[in-house]
Amino acid sequence: MIFLGIESSCDESAAALIQDQRIIAHQVHSQNHTHSGGVIPQVAAREHLKILPCLMQQMMQKADLRVKDIGGIGVTSGPGLVGGLLIGIMYAKGLSLSSGIPLWSVHHLAAHALVVRREHKVDFPYLLLLLSGGHCLMAIVHQVDRYQILGQTQDDAVGECLDKVARALEGPYPGGAWIEAWAKEGDSCAIDLPITRMRHKIYDFSFSGLKTACLLWIQKNQPMNEQKLRDFCASLQRVIAQSLCRPLERALKTFGIERCVVSGGVASNLFFRSALEDVCHSNHVQFYAPSPFYCTDNGVMVAWAAWEYYCAGIKPNLDFSAQPYWPLDLLAHDESLRL
Ligand code: KG4
Ligand code: ZN
Repeated sequence: MIFLGIESSCDESAAALIQDQRIIAHQVHSQNHTHSGGVIPQVAAREHLKILPCLMQQMMQKADLRVKDIGGIGVTSGPGLVGGLLIGIMYAKGLSLSSGIPLWSVHHLAAHALVVRREHKVDFPYLLLLLSGGHCLMAIVHQVDRYQILGQTQDDAVGECLDKVARALEGPYPGGAWIEAWAKEGDSCAIDLPITRMRHKIYDFSFSGLKTACLLWIQKNQPMNEQKLRDFCASLQRVIAQSLCRPLERALKTFGIERCVVSGGVASNLFFRSALEDVCHSNHVQFYAPSPFYCTDNGVMVAWAAWEYYCAGIKPNLDFSAQPYWPLDLLAHDESLRL
């Protein structure tokens, strides 16, 4: 069965067609928000409206397929920016209603959490570290629709911290990949930056103190030469990796889970992946991550999540709308929606 995935929850308009593990075609259009230094929701929504139909048409042509060849549709219905979500949902519902193709509402974070299973055989349960621009959380994934949150950021998401620091350095938006590129030849011990320790909520994270310390450091050290920029980016990555590794190690030791998955846009960072992989290996835990491209927002993960829902016996459903705020542990599908 061919599954279509549609993603428009933030600033990527994306669509993909998959058949089992295989990607038939996919398209991602990343909006450019560098000039505003961040995503303006109304501007993003207008761009989705303009781009999504062309993107779909191009993809169907590339795949040489017709709508009647599609067996199921998944669309991101939250969490995210309401305007973009509604555009994806309306497009998907229109397609579903006019052609009778079953439709599944997909939780964006569940799509990030599950996409690793397209490339690797990762059985449930597994520990998930989800690192993106809007979220930073640790959870146990029990089933396709059952998530137990252990901890999350108390303030900024890790990607948000990277993006704001990159903006202060006059880098592009989003800035995570740009920081990674500059960090490559830097000395990660050159600059002392603070690590926030969560004393009571031991699986939680916090990045706003680090962000503020970085912004102050940048203010004081401008203008900086290229070597200093490299050292700063490498030092920032070191501190972030330490802030992620500590709660991860505690959870691995406490819950005795055999598999760990890292996903979300920030998980495409090779430095973070390798630090987290080391922690897993020294605790005898299998480490998995999607290929870097499938860590950032894409349509494949949405198509794959819908396919997983279908395989798990979750019924398709048209009775849903955009859910801008939608905690992952509230996802569990209603028993009446099970086949
Ligand atoms: O998952 P994602 O594509 O969108 C959200 O759901 O938020 O994640 C986007 C985030 C941005 O903050 C971006 O700076 C970060 O992922 N990111 C990276 C890298 N590539 C993207 N952060 C660090 N290193 C990268 N290579
Ligand atoms: Zn995402």
